[in-house]
Amino acid sequence: MKRIAVLTSGGDSPGMNACIRAVVRTAIYYGVEVFGIRKGYNGLIKGDLIKMESSSVSNTIQKGGTILKSARSQDFMTSEGRQQAFEHLKKHDIEGLVAIGGNGTFTGATLFHEEFGIPIVGAPGTIDNDLYGTDYTIGYDTAVNTALDAIDKIRDTADSHERVFFVEVMGRDSGYIAMPCAIGGGAEIVLIPETKTTIPDVISTLQNGWSRSKTSFIIVVAEGDEEGNATEIAARVKEAIPQMDARVTILGHVQRGGSPTAADRLLASQIGIACVEGLLNGKKDVMAGFVNNRLVYTPFKDTITKKKIINQRFVRMVEILSV
Ligand code: F6P
Repeated sequence: MKRIAVLTSGGDSPGMNACIRAVVRTAIYYGVEVFGIRKGYNGLIKGDLIKMESSSVSNTIQKGGTILKSARSQDFMTSEGRQQAFEHLKKHDIEGLVAIGGNGTFTGATLFHEEFGIPIVGAPGTIDNDLYGTDYTIGYDTAVNTALDAIDKIRDTADSHERVFFVEVMGRDSGYIAMPCAIGGGAEIVLIPETKTTIPDVISTLQNGWSRSKTSFIIVVAEGDEEGNATEIAARVKEAIPQMDARVTILGHVQRGGSPTAADRLLASQIGIACVEGLLNGKKDVMAGFVNNRLVYTPFKDTITKKKIINQRFVRMVEILSV
């Protein structure tokens, strides 16, 4: 393999730049030319490719976002779009691709590989940590720390005003961000899609707390919880307890930005190297990840369809520690 390309796609996550850097420098280390594709699959469809040198990724390891920019491409979900994308790869003599992203990125990647046979190795880049085939995704640790920092600040004001705060965190259909935020942020209760915590459960937690002279509460809500979002849940609890002084904070996209933590930089760098070495060793249609500290390549199909299970021990921890 003499020439490869790298792109970032889907929601950005802190550490994507560290991963791009590792891909570019590993390729150069092995004497392989590397191109950056801008704006994800949309850039590939349009032929927005740039040759990357070692200096192209200088001073980027500590930066949030993605220097290649990102997009959720609808066009790549069409066969015409993928055909155009392939033409651009052919035109540039690109023989392998590194795709950094999440579920949607890998769904597109596996289709693309199936149709055109182009070897693709994926790097798990999403704050959601919802990908099967890796214990942690690039950006997850930073997002959790960002959310936790915000929750600590909310706790100060919750305590001063003796209020109940419903704090909504991201995570799409998973509670991976919510769970460590609840444990690390000392929340009284957490609502995640993977468990059935009902409005009556929230009400009884609050009432028990008040009866034990607790004066303020943090309730962490994963955005994908089945009971609704934090605003809806707070409104339903308020109906039952009109005297409750409650506020809702939606942390939102703040969780996607910022300088990556040491853990994310290390993970992103290891995975970037593994992606290029994987391509050079004949891997295709797989994601590079770390499970129990061991590098594994998991077929894209499994990363998309198999469910990563949240450890039930964590669910119990919140209950025990909020007594
Ligand atoms: O997948 C990352 C993520 O931040 C999810 O947690 C969230 O549901 C979604 O992306 C938000 O997407 P967008 O940035 O397109 O609004």
